[in-house]
Amino acid sequence: MKATAIANSNIAFVKYWGKKAEGNIPMNASISMTLDSVLSTKTTVEFSPKYDKDEFILNDKKETGEKLERVSKFLDIFRCGSNAKIVSVNTFPTASGIASSASGFAALAAACNKSMELNMTDTQLSALARKGSGSASRSIYSGFVEWSGESAKQLQDEVYWEELRDIVVIVSSGEKKISSRDAMKLTQDKSKLYKERIKNIDKTLEIVRKAISRKDISVLAESIMKESDNMHACIEEIGIKYLNETSHAIKEIITNLNSNGIIAAYTFDAGPNAHIITTKKNLPKIKDALFAFGRLIVSKPGKGVRYSEEHLF
Ligand code: PMV
Repeated sequence: MKATAIANSNIAFVKYWGKKAEGNIPMNASISMTLDSVLSTKTTVEFSPKYDKDEFILNDKKETGEKLERVSKFLDIFRCGSNAKIVSVNTFPTASGIASSASGFAALAAACNKSMELNMTDTQLSALARKGSGSASRSIYSGFVEWSGESAKQLQDEVYWEELRDIVVIVSSGEKKISSRDAMKLTQDKSKLYKERIKNIDKTLEIVRKAISRKDISVLAESIMKESDNMHACIEEIGIKYLNETSHAIKEIITNLNSNGIIAAYTFDAGPNAHIITTKKNLPKIKDALFAFGRLIVSKPGKGVRYSEEHLF
């Protein structure tokens, strides 16, 4: 059966960095906000004997090599012999360099679930999406989400703190040089700071959970920045730099804006693009301060994975 699902991206306030075991079992719990549909992936899947091999079309481009292999390996979890056709489109601006694996594997997991009529619960879907990409386990749920171990769970839904915003500043549109998978492994093997990070992360998680439950932007923003800085310090210790000069310039602007009280946080994943977390009322001030950096994508807390009858083929 042909099935279609849509999932949104998410931004981690407390980052997943490092694996305890195969299948993306994380070293530490992580907390994220699911973004709205400005950053989403829609995917249609059909398993059928009429396909003599897997076919994966992403944003109108037929994928081969590593991207196809990763998707095929994921489909192996479901298939009973048949190959499949997968068509995906991202709402992300083309070549924005924004990671799409979270929304991509969350949408793919759900589309496979429906296509094979497995009727999985969200917990099962989250555990499955996790196998494609760790952060995808969180995109199954709307709003504020915590992932530890096998699967993620919702902390709060998308209307709970709807004034919260994520402004994505596109700094570089290139693909990342070192995959998060390789960088995580090197960090775990070689970074001394990483051992400290893991020892202390439960405290950070507790502060972030509390800040969300109190809707306290100032405490939340302070911990988000410390957490992003900490992850990147571990990564830089082993000689990998994801942030570039523009990323550092954005950090400085946000630090200056916060000098009379914290109103916004910067946070960076495995790349130079900045995510600025703030509230609706501070948006104009922050947009003004960042106007020189070109296109800004503003997102609210958004929906979890959902199904659509409008197939892509
Ligand atoms: O889901 P992956 O394997 O691409 O790893 C994501 C890692 C970070 O984006 C840096 C952090 C996170 O928790 O999303």
